[in-house]
Amino acid sequence: MSAPRVVAIDGAAGSGKSTLSRGLARALGVPYINTGLMYRALTSAALRSSVDLEDQYALIDILGHLRFMVTGEQPPELEVEGYPAEALTTREVELTVSRVARHPRVREHMRRQQRALGVAGAVMEGRDIATAVFPDAPVKLFLRADEAERSARRARERASNDPREVARALRHRDERDARTNPLEPAPGAVVVDTGALDADAVLAQALLIVRPAWPKDAG
Ligand code: DC
Repeated sequence: MSAPRVVAIDGAAGSGKSTLSRGLARALGVPYINTGLMYRALTSAALRSSVDLEDQYALIDILGHLRFMVTGEQPPELEVEGYPAEALTTREVELTVSRVARHPRVREHMRRQQRALGVAGAVMEGRDIATAVFPDAPVKLFLRADEAERSARRARERASNDPREVARALRHRDERDARTNPLEPAPGAVVVDTGALDADAVLAQALLIVRPAWPKDAG
């Protein structure tokens, strides 16, 4: 069986995954799938319907009603119908998403859908893409940046927030996320330190890693 045309990108919050993944997807001519949006949308839906966040079967039921779509061009991107970006980056969602994402059965359902979304080729980012979703991806990147750099980046993205509050929230989420997915590179993953580089330099470095490993019949 041939390897999927997938670049698997993992790393902590604020490590630069989204910017790099979108740029790589555009360069390779494949969709960009941000799996964090799937967990965020499920969290937003769960908060809206006030289900018990410890009840993974109730969460799976809600997940069954979400519609994941790949839309747009250059690159096509994952969207969740009815959940614009603003609804997925609220403080409430960010405080709660790690609790929703920790349930093994929820993760199983998510992974199944993620494989279906990526099977025809994708740049896919998340926390467990190279370890669990596409362990046979021909290219695996693990992004790293120190905590100060990651929270500075997040504070710039969420312009209205207090930087100290952003740093606190990030640390809180890191701790919880690491209990579900230890933030360590998968076997065979190349570690890219994004801290000292701007977005163009990170993309250029990643393309040097991806091009030689990318299946020849790929776009
Ligand atoms: O990448 P992000 O920060 O948007 O992800 C939001 C949350 O979803 C994050 O706190 C951990 C969880 N997540 C996960 O558990 N597995 C993934 N593949 C992607 C995200």
